[in-house]
Amino acid sequence: MNKAKRKAIIAGNWKMNKTRPEAKALLEAIKPLVADANGKIEVIACVPFTNLETAVNVTAGSNVKVGAENVHFEKSGAFTGEISADMLTEIGVEYVVIGHSERRQYFGETDETVNKRTKAALAAGLKPIVCVGELLWERECNITEEVIARQIKLDLFDVTAEQVKNVVIAYEPVWAIGTGKVATDEQAQEVCAFIRAQLAKLYGQDIADAVTIQYGGSMNAKNCAGLLAQPDIDGGLIGGASLKAEDFSIIVKAAVEG
Ligand code: 13P
Repeated sequence: MNKAKRKAIIAGNWKMNKTRPEAKALLEAIKPLVADANGKIEVIACVPFTNLETAVNVTAGSNVKVGAENVHFEKSGAFTGEISADMLTEIGVEYVVIGHSERRQYFGETDETVNKRTKAALAAGLKPIVCVGELLWERECNITEEVIARQIKLDLFDVTAEQVKNVVIAYEPVWAIGTGKVATDEQAQEVCAFIRAQLAKLYGQDIADAVTIQYGGSMNAKNCAGLLAQPDIDGGLIGGASLKAEDFSIIVKAAVEG
């Protein structure tokens, strides 16, 4: 199966949660619970900027990798409040979430800036987790595929075939994020397969088959197994459930069983 060609990745997206002592405690709780996944799937904690150094230190020597939740596209300069890709790699961060719907919705993120951030991250050696997904009314208007195709094309503009091997795509239907309204296994599979088809158009089938595509949006310990068993869903980007060590580890175990 093509699924065997790709790395399954379960990533927590902590969003704006946890002080440093809280982050340390959560990671200490997660580490032993996900140790069995070592060498089988990738486990990542994407944490607020203030927790990154703590997270890198606490996870050292474990199979938990660290990601940031955003990155700026310029290397340095007069961009008050922003963080560059080099600042992240220097700490030991490996992944970065880019274009999350909350950034698109609340912070003016566009496909153009997602594309710039993605290229800057790749150039610095970070692995971007690029988020795409349709709004509820876009799904109701039956334009989910148009929306997703446009996001994939624009967000990955000028990203080379060699580079895209280091990109993770997260399909996060906006109506499913933080709402408890999870996409059905079939809905999620349908769009993840569509994303892979778009990648195949841009990069060829072999490369498309090697790209990890995650589902995100109200994934939890109870509903994860069905989603993660789908042929084109290679993992999850987990919000709320990633803040509970036990729940997060159940999702990791389900991904190992895939
Ligand atoms: P929830 O799992 O809380 O719905 O959040 C999903 C998400 O936005 C992950 O990036």
